[in-house]
Amino acid sequence: MISSTGEQPAATWKRLNPHLMNPRAQMFEEQLSARIVGQQRAVKAMVGLYQLYLAGMTPPHRPIGTLLFLGPTGTGKTRVVEAAAEVLFGDPFAMIKVDCAEFQHSHEIAKLIGSPPGYLGHRETEPALTQEQLDRFQTPENQLTLVLFDEIEKASDSLWMLLLGILDKATLTLGDNRKVDFSRCIICMTSNLGAKEIDSLVSARIGFSPADGPVDAGERTDEKIYRTALAAARRKFTPEFMNRIDKVVVFRPLREDDLKAILDLELNRIEERLLQRFGRPIRLRYTPSAKRFLLEEGKDLRYGARHIKRAIERFVVFPLANLIATGQLHGGDEILVDADALNPDLSFTKIREAKSSSASASYGNSHSEIHSFITQSVPVG
Ligand SMILES: Nc1ncnc2c1ncn2[C@@H]1O[C@H](COP(=O)(O)OP(=O)(O)OP(=O)(O)O)[C@@H](O)[C@H]1O
Ligand SMILES: [Mg+2]
Repeated sequence: MISSTGEQPAATWKRLNPHLMNPRAQMFEEQLSARIVGQQRAVKAMVGLYQLYLAGMTPPHRPIGTLLFLGPTGTGKTRVVEAAAEVLFGDPFAMIKVDCAEFQHSHEIAKLIGSPPGYLGHRETEPALTQEQLDRFQTPENQLTLVLFDEIEKASDSLWMLLLGILDKATLTLGDNRKVDFSRCIICMTSNLGAKEIDSLVSARIGFSPADGPVDAGERTDEKIYRTALAAARRKFTPEFMNRIDKVVVFRPLREDDLKAILDLELNRIEERLLQRFGRPIRLRYTPSAKRFLLEEGKDLRYGARHIKRAIERFVVFPLANLIATGQLHGGDEILVDADALNPDLSFTKIREAKSSSASASYGNSHSEIHSFITQSVPVG
């Protein structure tokens, strides 16, 4: 029976769960978490915006959401956006990326928005931020675009005005007056503001405690880093700008355990790349001492995971490329990677040869294939 106010009897009411996640958002979270180590807040922030998009609840005439990523170098600020692009569109580069430091002068801004008609360069090159450029990665399932403004503290005044307009009204006017709609964009901005202060906080922690330190000391430092980064952002950016940001996420410094997990992730990515490039898997098995060696070589907590990636490039990717180029390694082979007993290096031993002659055909002897394997397997950012 329906009451006079139109409500159904209380016995039929059902309590709803606002914390339940949409299965697609849940899958996005799982796949993003599998790629990003130790930055749950950033993952949650991305997932929250994706769920907003899936629900069609994005604010009118505004981007889907705007996130500001702060924190130490090499801790995953850029990687989070790349990983989101990888999960949503199958390609880490499926995003619009603006390196703010590259657009200091007005003629450089023209590369983004084009010049007004009649000006020099008008029609010469298509601006980078047209609607077509923005929409080109969208798929029927994911009609949204990831936009990354890297190092925004380096943006010139004119780029800054452009950015404010996008955050405020989700619209950009190109040089020839065409309008570009940013309302289907998740906008992420990164900044190293406060990096110096953060660096000294991190160094102090490394100095006082074991590298992966007692948790409470680590948490206190994380809290200090959070406040330091936020204070630096408030000093530098106007309240007008800060008010347009949905969430500020401060990335925490990585600990030794995080670096171990990142080492594993990056080593797996090499196998994926080999498979993509050469069409057949080349299995790589690492002994614990090989991993220890890479971790020791790449461990400099002040640079986050950057040195780990350099160590992998130097001790794994380049030697592998040589083995492929000289025909010692083929698709279908299995390799054991160990620490070299005599030299500060890794050793590579073939423990299983590809079976049939067709299976052992050489897959990587072309110079361009090897070059692209090297450059794509470990993009050193
Ligand atoms: N939290 C993380 N999870 C997984 N990989 C990471 C993480 N942090 C860093 N990496 C690895 O290290 C590389 C460098 O990290 P990234 O480019 O995201 O640093 P950043 O925080 O943007 O630094 P910067 O402020 O100097 O730009 C990434 O490409 C990734 O391979
Ligand atoms: Mg970065």
